[in-house]
Amino acid sequence: MKHLLSIADLDREEILAILDTAISMHEVQGRDVKKLPTLRGRTIINFFFEDSTRTRASFEIAGKWMSADTINLTGKGTSVSKGESLRDTVLTIDAMGVDMMVIRHPASGAPRQIADWVDCSIVNAGDGTHEHPSQALLDAYTLRRSLGDLDGRHVAIVGDLTHSRVLRSNLLCLRKLGAEVTLVAPPTLMPAGIAGWASTDGFTVSYDLDAVLPTVDAVMMLRVQRERMSGGYFPTAKEYAVTYGLTARRLALLQDHAVIAHPGPMNRGLEISAEAADAARSLVLDQVSAGVAVRMSILYHLLAGEGSAQ
Ligand code: CP
Repeated sequence: MKHLLSIADLDREEILAILDTAISMHEVQGRDVKKLPTLRGRTIINFFFEDSTRTRASFEIAGKWMSADTINLTGKGTSVSKGESLRDTVLTIDAMGVDMMVIRHPASGAPRQIADWVDCSIVNAGDGTHEHPSQALLDAYTLRRSLGDLDGRHVAIVGDLTHSRVLRSNLLCLRKLGAEVTLVAPPTLMPAGIAGWASTDGFTVSYDLDAVLPTVDAVMMLRVQRERMSGGYFPTAKEYAVTYGLTARRLALLQDHAVIAHPGPMNRGLEISAEAADAARSLVLDQVSAGVAVRMSILYHLLAGEGSAQ
């Protein structure tokens, strides 16, 4: 495996291999001395053309804990702001002899285009409304730690699905791992043509969160992405919180064993209440913690594992 561009490119065995390696990487997080020598001498550029807290920090930590040299770049502060094209920018970085670029970009498909231009490995750290594969892998890892094998488990993905790259990656990943998935959103935030999504089947669509919650093993709340809604948004924040938010009242609809996930950043009081975000059954911080281990596993598989390009 040379690149991680999309969950669509991975089969079930490749997903499980990354999740299984992450288990041993997670043990490293519990040690006093966390560094592994595996990627000594390798250089990884985290190139983020969009803001990030979790993904950028955890890829940087993952690289450092595997002894790689990691450098962070953003659109601001590079020659992108002087008008240098994306192609010239990434060819410039590639010519310095780096081993990997971790790319976040507002344009769907940008990481795949960059992978065609350069020699180094490319990791998609979120591209437009397309995919966020490392997020889906860490979400699957976290759900498996809590629920066990996901085969036959029922997961609801709820929220602003139109603008969500996390949705597409998670839907593909969960289906490949055998989970049943129900997508819940207001009609205005359900992606148009979702029934025809390529390479995914076996998911259902609902507009009734109260009816779905008692049936799930996990509910994944996704962020309302107001910054991507140029013409204002509907429902309003207040309407949204009442009709699709995971409120304190809705928490009581969940089965005793059911867990709550959210990839972050959260809009508290909008898609998720403080009661839900901070509940004992909330996996939000477990997801963040798993993010480092799963990203260490991704770096390992792309740069050092059997079948890696290096
Ligand atoms: N979940 C996620 O991608 O968060 P960041 O935007 O903070 O990286």
